[in-house]
Amino acid sequence: RHPPSVKIVDVGPRDGLQNEKSPVPAAVKIGLVHRLQDAGVKNIEVTSYVSPKWVPQMADNHEVMSGIARQGGVVYSVLTPNLQGFEAALRDRPGEIVVFGSASEAFSRKNINCSIAESIERFAPVVEAARAAGIHVRGAMSCTVGCPYEGEVAPERVGYLAGLMKGIGVQHVGVADTIGVGTPVKVQRAIEATLAHYGIDDVSGHFHDTYGQALANTLAALELGVWQFDASVAGLGGCPYAKGATGNVATEDVVYMLHGMGIDTGIDLDRLVDAGAYISDYLGRKPNSRAATALLNK
Ligand code: HMG
Ligand code: MG
Repeated sequence: RHPPSVKIVDVGPRDGLQNEKSPVPAAVKIGLVHRLQDAGVKNIEVTSYVSPKWVPQMADNHEVMSGIARQGGVVYSVLTPNLQGFEAALRDRPGEIVVFGSASEAFSRKNINCSIAESIERFAPVVEAARAAGIHVRGAMSCTVGCPYEGEVAPERVGYLAGLMKGIGVQHVGVADTIGVGTPVKVQRAIEATLAHYGIDDVSGHFHDTYGQALANTLAALELGVWQFDASVAGLGGCPYAKGATGNVATEDVVYMLHGMGIDTGIDLDRLVDAGAYISDYLGRKPNSRAATALLNK
């Protein structure tokens, strides 16, 4: 009933570190990427090409991307909200770019300073340029179950955004619970609305864990056939424009669950825990992962 293997995108270096109060040096970010790929993580969301006035934590995007000793078979993704970001990213040869829109109008304005309709107009030339350059395009869809400004978000809003993304040629979409308010059935409704526009192989889950539901939501998505997930090592993260929201589901917890279900990820859990310990030590806190905590105390 479940897929035999799952693809995990570790978004820790990007989603995880975009909200840290004190700056994390590029060398530490690069060290984290190296440890993730050494643990067998084949998809890493490294950084964002966004305005440094909006997100100063990602201002070192070029330094980080150019400092990585790349491994064959690893896809390095970056966020690009507009052509300016895409052109800057292109110089650093990303394997995949991510445009990011929102199912809620208010979050779109707070996060990227434009309406949903305007965001699609901005993404369209980015998608076209990326595809012309042979770069895979993913679309992140924020606030697919709840919005920090509008409250609950109806599945119809998610379907509407997925349709717009499809219309401009976005190849894959991620259903994101930005503020981690979702519960399994609500998340399934958001995914089903997306599946009206995208096939199951082009949809992933991106769940923040604010209310401790992210692992349950991952399983709920898995039961619909979704086999691609974003997760963040050590449970790092949060979005600067979603106050109070915590990090993504910890990659260690997802990997522990999947391996326990006999589902392959290609990731070495012990080495992944080491990667999480490396960044958590730097930040001076414990990994926000139950599996990592259990394994480190063994
Ligand atoms: P804007 O102010 O509307 O843009 O911002 P603009 O085109 O009017 O330009 C204004 C200034 O920004 C100009 O500089 C531009 O050069 C500069 P100035 O002349 O004032 O010195 N600028 C840029 N600089 C660098 N890179 C760029 C860029 N674009 C413009 N690409 C913009 C619009 C989208 C740029 C802004 O709102 C922004 O950067 N927002 C950041 C949003 C962000 O990074 N949020 C976090 C990531 S999304 C997320 O976490 C959710 C996700 O995890 C899924 C989920 O959980 O929901 C993906
Ligand atoms: Mg996120």
